[in-house]
Amino acid sequence: MNNPDFSISRRALLAGAAGMTFAAAVNTTQAADGKRFPKGFRWGVATAGHQIEGNNVNSDFWLLENILPTCFKERSGDACDSYHRYQEDIALLAQLGFNTYRFSLEWSRIEPSRGFVSQAELDYYKRVIACCRDHGVDPAVTFLHAAAPRWFAQAGGWLNPEAPALFANFCSLAAKALAPDMAFAFTINEPQVAKTFRAIPNQGAAAYFAKRDEAERAAHAAAARATASDRYITLNYPDIDGMTPLLLSGHEQAFAAIKAENTKLPVGVTLNIIDFQPGSEDSSYLDVRKSAYGAWLEAVRRSGDFVGVQIYRQLAVPGGGKPLPAPPPMPYVDAKNMIANMAQPGALRNGVEYIYEQTHKPIFVTENGIETDNDEQRVWYVGQALAGLYESIEKGVPVIGYTHWSLLDNFEWEQGYKPKFGLVAVDRSSFQRTPKPSAHYLGDIARRSAI
Ligand code: BGC
Repeated sequence: MNNPDFSISRRALLAGAAGMTFAAAVNTTQAADGKRFPKGFRWGVATAGHQIEGNNVNSDFWLLENILPTCFKERSGDACDSYHRYQEDIALLAQLGFNTYRFSLEWSRIEPSRGFVSQAELDYYKRVIACCRDHGVDPAVTFLHAAAPRWFAQAGGWLNPEAPALFANFCSLAAKALAPDMAFAFTINEPQVAKTFRAIPNQGAAAYFAKRDEAERAAHAAAARATASDRYITLNYPDIDGMTPLLLSGHEQAFAAIKAENTKLPVGVTLNIIDFQPGSEDSSYLDVRKSAYGAWLEAVRRSGDFVGVQIYRQLAVPGGGKPLPAPPPMPYVDAKNMIANMAQPGALRNGVEYIYEQTHKPIFVTENGIETDNDEQRVWYVGQALAGLYESIEKGVPVIGYTHWSLLDNFEWEQGYKPKFGLVAVDRSSFQRTPKPSAHYLGDIARRSAI
């Protein structure tokens, strides 16, 4: 059977970077033999260093996990031991059918104390990238996925006016060593996730954040005392409005620093998107979207060859007026798991279309997935979400790839190891990897590039 000409070329990608529209660059003709994704589409899985590598002992979060009071239900510890098992992970994902691996560098390994750059750790990440290439897998690399070095937090983290330059300096040295072999680079993972969640306009969320903020302040104060610092600031510190201008500048400086080392490398930021929908006729959902993404949409219009979008949830924003009918209930609803129940697969299509409409940049779905212990639900979710994504592509949205969160059941930050997002289960004592049916289901879609 013929492959339709559905490709997104590098020229098209760079046309997007130059702000041109993609209607002409993407041929959305449907194949006779099914729903084939564009030629060159990236199919992958996503992970992040701190969540899988293990023993990220010089990171800011490591300390927060290991002191009292802490907001972490458990510590990351050995995580999935991917630091030592990356070859097994990469071989597995390639064998499953994926052509792209999104993972992150750990800044605190490469620059464990300010100004000291570990050549040995740069060489380590070179080997990870080379291993991807040996398996025919494109390395898609995040420079900062939440965890930063401890010294950076002790110096005030993203509330320190020096933060953008410190981060850009790291990006520059890491890109000099590693960018020549990368396929994609992402500056900062979800720098606005706290804004998105705080934009949720209901009292339950407000009460939740008030309680959580207090606990976070206490944990950060304990870390400051433990390190004899004036303040200890991580991305979990509850002052996202204070951090945002510095994060924006950090992204823009990092974008320029990475580009300076490899002008051909597509670089962008990844954003956390909730599909805010109207819950009533007078819903202010558009204002909610604006407050969740506002400044970042402007930033990606200025500096980004594409936008990384990370979409898990949909939320109807109520107003005082007549409520709109609720969407039909999803299968597999779990009355107790509010977060899982926000995982409407249609959110992916809506979020992708909204971000494209706002930015006119190519879209890379750098995360999408579902927290569930029931792998049948994951299979259902992935099928539905990808059907929606295909609709967006048919409408002319230039989607260049999809990396599923996540390859492995991993360390889900403050929630510890209980939430299961992985296509592959990991035994917590032996670290043995066991692919779930969803890994084969999505791997098969990836191999055929069709649904
Ligand atoms: C983050 C990941 C996280 C995932 C699932 C995303 O917001 O980038 O680090 O594990 O959501 O919770």
